[in-house]
Amino acid sequence: MPRMAQFVLALLVGLALLTWAAASVVENTARGWFERDVSSRARLVLVGATHSLANNWYAGPPVLQKQLNDLARDERVMGVLICNADLTAHVSTPEFLEEFGCPVVGSRARVETNPAAVQEWHTVATLPTGRVHVSVMPIESQEQQMGFVVLLHDLSFIERREAQARKFLLIAFGVLAIMAFGVPMFVAKWARYGWSNELRRLMRGGGKQSLEFQPILSDMRELVGRMANDREDAPGQWTAERLKQTLNRHLHGEKIVILANREPYIHQRTADGSIEVQHPASGLVTALEPVMRACSGVWVAHGSGSADRETVDENDHVRVPPGEESYHIRRVWLSEEEQQGYYYGISNEGLWPLCHVAHARPMFRAEDWRQYRAVNQKFADVVCEEVDSKDPIILVQDYHFALAPAMIRKRLPTATVIVFWHIPWPNAGRMGICPWRQELLEGLLGSSIVGFHTQLDCNNFLDSIDRYMETRIDREHNAIVMRGHRTLIRPYPIALEWPVRWVEAAPSPEECRAQVWREFGLKPGAFLGVGVDRLDYTKGIEERLLAVEMLLERHPEFRGKFSFAQLAAPSRTKIERYQDLNELVEKVAARINERFGTPGYQPIILLRSHHEPAAVYRFFRAADVCYVSSLHDGMNLVAKEFVAARTDLKGVLVLSEFTGAARELTEALIVNPYDLEGSSEALAVALTMPLDEQADRMRSMRSLLAQFNVYRWAGKMLVDAARLRNQERVSGRLAARPATGTTL
Ligand code: F6P
Repeated sequence: MPRMAQFVLALLVGLALLTWAAASVVENTARGWFERDVSSRARLVLVGATHSLANNWYAGPPVLQKQLNDLARDERVMGVLICNADLTAHVSTPEFLEEFGCPVVGSRARVETNPAAVQEWHTVATLPTGRVHVSVMPIESQEQQMGFVVLLHDLSFIERREAQARKFLLIAFGVLAIMAFGVPMFVAKWARYGWSNELRRLMRGGGKQSLEFQPILSDMRELVGRMANDREDAPGQWTAERLKQTLNRHLHGEKIVILANREPYIHQRTADGSIEVQHPASGLVTALEPVMRACSGVWVAHGSGSADRETVDENDHVRVPPGEESYHIRRVWLSEEEQQGYYYGISNEGLWPLCHVAHARPMFRAEDWRQYRAVNQKFADVVCEEVDSKDPIILVQDYHFALAPAMIRKRLPTATVIVFWHIPWPNAGRMGICPWRQELLEGLLGSSIVGFHTQLDCNNFLDSIDRYMETRIDREHNAIVMRGHRTLIRPYPIALEWPVRWVEAAPSPEECRAQVWREFGLKPGAFLGVGVDRLDYTKGIEERLLAVEMLLERHPEFRGKFSFAQLAAPSRTKIERYQDLNELVEKVAARINERFGTPGYQPIILLRSHHEPAAVYRFFRAADVCYVSSLHDGMNLVAKEFVAARTDLKGVLVLSEFTGAARELTEALIVNPYDLEGSSEALAVALTMPLDEQADRMRSMRSLLAQFNVYRWAGKMLVDAARLRNQERVSGRLAARPATGTTL
């Protein structure tokens, strides 16, 4: 039985018993009072009357009759009877009840009093018609009893009054029952309404806070946090829709502002004068573009395309994706000097080699640093123009914008700024060589969360802070507190959308293979390897080609049969190191082709140009093996893209152990790209791997990618940000209150 019904039942039974007991007590008491009252009235009347009756005894019946009539005038007197001493009737009022005739009453009175003579006697008799009070008084003169008088009083009025009293009691207790149940219920409901309103308001972080709620609030927050964690960690596929719902639920649908140097869509003027839209070769764009499609908002980026200025509106906005517009890009224009100092200089000649262990010496030029700072300020200002609230959610991407978080925080103190650092973070000793290490760290600590791909990067970052900054490190929560501001440091390994839209749109793997075979004149039965990268020295492209050379050297059975297609998108070409790499890769490819090539067979197919995703996925689906040989890489999404492309569960991934991806894609053949023998052997193993083993490995990696997709990646960051926002709101208001000694 529900608890409420039990309570009501107990209350009703209790009240019924109480009513019954109270009614009995009241009735008995009242009846006693009334009867005593009637008795004394009867006595009073008879004492007075018997004296005159005795005087008139001999005056004859008419006189006595008149006297009796006078006595019976009282409405409650039912009748009066005068009896002789021998118990015969003498005179009575009309219709005197015969049940109380002289013999009956006289003999009873004698028995009850004195058997010799009738004495004063009072009793109550019960008739079917009701109760009657009977009074007997002797009529005496000079000590001689002449007879006695019987006076009957109607007591039915007592029953009527009892019935009235019972009715009143029932009504009173009924009202009491309603009050006893209704009032507490109303008060409880009202209090609960007030409490839940107050709690809801506090959990949302609004309004003034009452002291009584402070202890419960911290419990509630912990509980809600745990529940939210459970829900967000609940198994099940993360989708664009689920991400959108997460954003709505936790951040009330607030739009997202992304700050990234690279724009997701570049408008380029082509040789024939038309404008084409290019998808840049960028892991950052690959990951974040689907998030932006799902969440909408603004992507603030450098407008780097030759036709970018022609395609924006008067606010430098362009709606994208073309044909499926759901968010917009805000393009920021940079001068040659700005690009030189900020992008090429500090970002790619300073921070890039500083963060990657790829044996390139970082360059730190003071003039570049001034540009880096100025451009960070320029972008931070644009971000602040684009937001539509005091506390927006801003996702700052990568090493191009290490200073922007603090700059944004200065203008928008309550903003939630999440930095995601797409490249590795160096160890503290290595970080120490940067002349502006302190400014960089301080800039990043302006954010609410700094995210990295791996826990190792988080640890390195915390160590750098420990070594170079005056801050408090909260190791328990992986947080840094600087001048009262708290920044969480978290690993969020980046991922792909799932399913990948390019895969959905691609021809079947067989068709892709047939197209590539046709295009490059590959023989039936030939094997194809593929590498897809920006032409960057961290990608280990030279080592990769050398590993292919060693494969052909050590495994002659693959000569004439195995070709490796390297798709290499030109990148940062103004930097000497990249120009050198370009030449080096070309030379190495030419040398290998010279050494092992034959008419109709080219071991290295070097494709040095930008490839749109559709073309890249065609290669992924056509190849037997994909070799990702980065010397150091934050994640490397190419490895994940290859796995995503293989809906046929065919193909083998050979993956450098120095990528973040190697921690997740453990079913790949993991290699040290510096170890050319080991890598070439892995290529040989890949090319001879039975199909069922290929399928086993692919299946396992694909299920991981499906589960840990980019919607989950973004969802986790946004949920963490939402929790942080809530905590800041609550503690912000607490700080605004006079000190109470209570803490949350
Ligand atoms: O790997 C770091 C990174 O910024 C990626 O996020 C992105 O894929 C790549 O570099 C692009 O470089 P850029 O924008 O200089 O062409």
